[in-house]
Amino acid sequence: MDKKFKRTLVTCALPYANGPVHIGHLAGVYVPADIYVRYLRMRGEDVLYVCGSDEHGVPITIKARQQGCSPQDIVDKYHGIIDRSFKDLGINFDIYGRTSSKIHEKNASEFFRKLYDEGKFISRESEQYYDPEAKTFLADRYIVGTCPKCGAEGAYGDQCEKCGATLSPEELINPKSKLSGAEPVKKKTTHWYLPLDQYEGWLREWILEGHKEWRPNVYGQVKSWLDGGLQPRAVTRDLDWGVPVPVEGAEGKVLYVWFDAPIGYISNTIELLPDEWEKWWKSEDTKLVHFIGKDNIVFHCIVFPSMLKAFGGYVLPENVPANEFLNLEGDKISTSRGWAVWAHEYVRDFPGKEDALRYVLTANAPETKDNDFSWKDFQTRNNSELVAIFGNFVNRAIVLTHKYFDGKVPSCGELEDIDREVLSQIPGLRSSLEKNIESYKFREALKDAMSIARLGNKYISDTEPWKVAKTDMSRCATILNISLQICADLAIAFNPFTPFAASRLSGMLGITAEWDNLGKTDIIPAGHGIGEAELLFTKIEDDQIQVQLDRLDRIRAEREEAAKLEAARQVEPQKEECCFEDFEKMDIRTATVLEAERVPKTDKLLKLTIDTGIDKRVIVSGIAEYYSPEDMLGKQICILANLKPRTIRGIESHGMILMAKQGDGKMRFITPQDAVANGAVIG
Ligand code: 2FM
Ligand code: ZN
Repeated sequence: MDKKFKRTLVTCALPYANGPVHIGHLAGVYVPADIYVRYLRMRGEDVLYVCGSDEHGVPITIKARQQGCSPQDIVDKYHGIIDRSFKDLGINFDIYGRTSSKIHEKNASEFFRKLYDEGKFISRESEQYYDPEAKTFLADRYIVGTCPKCGAEGAYGDQCEKCGATLSPEELINPKSKLSGAEPVKKKTTHWYLPLDQYEGWLREWILEGHKEWRPNVYGQVKSWLDGGLQPRAVTRDLDWGVPVPVEGAEGKVLYVWFDAPIGYISNTIELLPDEWEKWWKSEDTKLVHFIGKDNIVFHCIVFPSMLKAFGGYVLPENVPANEFLNLEGDKISTSRGWAVWAHEYVRDFPGKEDALRYVLTANAPETKDNDFSWKDFQTRNNSELVAIFGNFVNRAIVLTHKYFDGKVPSCGELEDIDREVLSQIPGLRSSLEKNIESYKFREALKDAMSIARLGNKYISDTEPWKVAKTDMSRCATILNISLQICADLAIAFNPFTPFAASRLSGMLGITAEWDNLGKTDIIPAGHGIGEAELLFTKIEDDQIQVQLDRLDRIRAEREEAAKLEAARQVEPQKEECCFEDFEKMDIRTATVLEAERVPKTDKLLKLTIDTGIDKRVIVSGIAEYYSPEDMLGKQICILANLKPRTIRGIESHGMILMAKQGDGKMRFITPQDAVANGAVIG
């Protein structure tokens, strides 16, 4: 570690406790952070690893309302599920706290109060939407209406989920309060703002000059925010769920969730180490690293640092290794649409395969660009990398040691070129792995670790100790000694990535994985007894993958069906008023189709000969997209009989068939519910 620092404080974005965590969260934040922490700990660093649930904010109140329970019920439920999933996947924070805790309420409240007392905020009066029936201010999410961009109903005041447009409540057509259905009105309210514009110069200096080493996606996003000019940001809201604003006259107001959540990192540290927390947050020799997803960059690089700077005395992040997004089977992961692989369901469906998920999410980590998770790729990586290379190598080395040397590490004799060649590569891979982890390149680091496994697997295949054993036991001993040393390397190198397998491997080899030993040629001494081989990884079969693919197919089908219904539901606006006489002019009657044929060289037109009860006549109708001539034969329909004849494609058409046209353009003809005589007048 950099000499400047004595300890590392690692924080992971606090997940919202309004749903379980999914693979996107894991790949973006928690798996990389966990690799980093495990690595630092193996290197003997002093590390504190802090996370917790983010339990405030409007979406939680909406979910509670939908489910007819309290916001506290919602966060209690998901806090438990999320906490369990992390533990099951080997992500063991030193503390997994929660922002609805008393400690956090006190800490966030005091944080605000100090800035308030020191005049670090500005207050502003503005007009906000208000529900006159429910007598409460409305967050943007609580206002729904028609999307001005795509016409979808039910668009929120901040976003249309249908077309993805970012909206403001003013733009919604026909806005309504979600609470009472009333039309919202504007009402004056006062809020406190952090004047970010005052921190712009300092942020430029600190990040743009001082942290050019930050990931290009992070640095670039910060630069574009700063170049665009910062505005004061409201840090309070009119809402009844959150940390109350500790100021007289601020009844009904709470701290904005993005103000209180990052303070949660501090509160959780206080909860864990009430007497020592300041050492972690206020000593210059603490290295603070925030692991987050890209949607959190502005809050962790601009807003929270400005809050800490305003407060004074806190360390600032040394790095913010934000990841891009992970997609699922080519589509954006979406909690609301159910398009996700949930951590707790994965653990249930693939028991004992926690490492496989960690491995694949790291191998495909969206470090520099968005990436995709597919179940097929997951299966392939598990079966042909973890099982066929890493697992297979270890298994061969251990089984052969039992077969030929009674489970005791044989001694290493004179080395041949192939031995020297393989052994000489490991120190280089070790230093590359270290450099990569220390610069937050976890994908590359995993490749380095996997290269050691590949080396071992190739070495044992090339040297064929099972054949050598027939003629030269001493050479066989050397090969197996070297193979076992490489197994020990793997137990060390894979510890941060696949901790369950790595510790089982250490157990089998009877060693303690110590980072300093990585690359040494005598990690396990000759004569040391090793345990029986047990499989480190097992194959994932096609049917297990198919279950997952079927589940996603079902979600896709449900989504498409819902979209179709939604499109069909959109009704055309009512036409201008007409009078009864207007209606009476129309001669609408029942008729039966006698003959039907396509109009040549057209896709849409059918020529129908019909019996109107008065006569037999020809009507040309644009329904060929929806009905074939055969569909129409013998069908009873309704027609407008006295429409002035028109010539369509050279055919004279005498009337019009009445059709119901849906919002998606689909047409269906209107037919009497029970058969009636042709020519019956409709009116
Ligand atoms: O985006 C999110 O999921 C937020 N709940 C992250 C909060 S991070 C921190 F500031 F607490
Ligand atoms: Zn829209």
